[in-house]
Amino acid sequence: MWRRHAPDPSASGPAPVLDVHRIRQHFDFPAAGRVVTNNAASTQPPRELLELYRSLSPWYENVHRGQSSASQHMTGLFEESYDTIATWLNARSRRSIVTYRNTTEAINAVMYSLLSEFRDGDNVVTTTMEHNSNFVPWYALSREILPRFGRRVDHRLARFDPVTGELDLEHLAQLVDARTKLVCVSGASNFLGTKPPLRRIRAIADDSGYPRPDGDSGSLLLVDAAQLVPSSSVDVQALDVDYLAFSFHKLLAPFGIGVLYAKEHLLEQALPFLYGGDMIAEGQVAPDRVSYNALPWKYAAGTPNILGVIASAQALRLLLDLVAGGRPRWFGTAEPLARDVVVSSMDLVARHTTAVTEQAMRSAQDVAGLTVYGPPPGAPRSPLVAFTVEGMDPLRIAEGLNELGVESRAGCHCATLAHRDLGLVPSGSCRLSFALYSSPDDVDSAMEALRRVTAPARIGRVGLRAAGRPYP
Ligand SMILES: Cc1ncc(COP(=O)(O)O)c(C=O)c1O
Repeated sequence: MWRRHAPDPSASGPAPVLDVHRIRQHFDFPAAGRVVTNNAASTQPPRELLELYRSLSPWYENVHRGQSSASQHMTGLFEESYDTIATWLNARSRRSIVTYRNTTEAINAVMYSLLSEFRDGDNVVTTTMEHNSNFVPWYALSREILPRFGRRVDHRLARFDPVTGELDLEHLAQLVDARTKLVCVSGASNFLGTKPPLRRIRAIADDSGYPRPDGDSGSLLLVDAAQLVPSSSVDVQALDVDYLAFSFHKLLAPFGIGVLYAKEHLLEQALPFLYGGDMIAEGQVAPDRVSYNALPWKYAAGTPNILGVIASAQALRLLLDLVAGGRPRWFGTAEPLARDVVVSSMDLVARHTTAVTEQAMRSAQDVAGLTVYGPPPGAPRSPLVAFTVEGMDPLRIAEGLNELGVESRAGCHCATLAHRDLGLVPSGSCRLSFALYSSPDDVDSAMEALRRVTAPARIGRVGLRAAGRPYP
């Protein structure tokens, strides 16, 4: 069973600023000498989480319908994990939480669930700042899948301002009409860093006039929150989103779990994405009739990634403890999460990651020929900076940074449409991205390395990893 102990009064709320030095001691990568500034791709796992995963093994068993104590124990831990995730997002209950492998699979699940509901002449509106995970499924739906069923569904793309990186809301509003079944937007761009105003987009979707099956009108709203959930507090009820997806590997937990939040009535009505065992009601399978399980298990076909779900939900609890410092309060327990602690902790994470991102943006101004994409300093931005340097291949920059021990990422970051709009295809951009454990020293190291890599006279002299041990 989980540890249960009384809350520690000294740890009743998070400290006013993140103690990054202390937080880093919970991770192995600093001792390996790594400057990890590619956190938008995946974050690092804290040591306790890996230990927790290992510690679950003596009681590992399949979940649901097992008679052994081990199975019942695992089922309890597994199901509680859904409550933790629900509270994290301020979902009404676990009935709105579905787990998949990642954001991509979650968005595909929405696409396949809605497949039969699109009417001839409907449309889907997305934007050109989407990750391919929130573009290609809708492209495939409208161009490849539904045409095979004789249905025409239009796929429309709202543009963004190439100078500010802001989503063109007027254009979006023009594209949304009474045939728009679904509006799909990124909550935070993984290339530009832009954070589109989700409440205004909700209002645009609400006003579309699209006739819903329940007699109401308005378009559905899906938010790709892969970059939003790890860097801010997200309240799905306040945002009134219909669907929201994120991946735990960007939130300290690389165990193959992604989350789909969906409004309960949508999950009730929709057809599942995957069919098979466990998603059916107990005993309710006959040759001519199958009944599905109660939510959320209707959407959990087959044996789930049990340890992955448990460890991922515990990552959220550990994050609260890391932010607060003091004696662990949440990690390793099943105590119902306090929503106010989630909000204040993630506000602190957001403040910290914003500060290091601004530090990087300021420092980038000193690099000759460097162009940063996305919102200007001071505007809302997810904790990343993507840039190009005149006359240099971004790939060469990333390789040069790596030689100096700084991990960045070059390419289109799967935001291919946005790179195309900015004339950056095929070479893309180079990106530095930050997480709660990123320190001002990391930024200094990265920017110093960037100055060395981009200084014309020094190119060619960069050849050795400046810090850290070689990879094993
Ligand atoms: C904005 C955004 N959406 C979707 C994804 C896809 O996430 P995953 O690879 O976990 O499916 C990413 C990953 O980088 C992302 O940044």
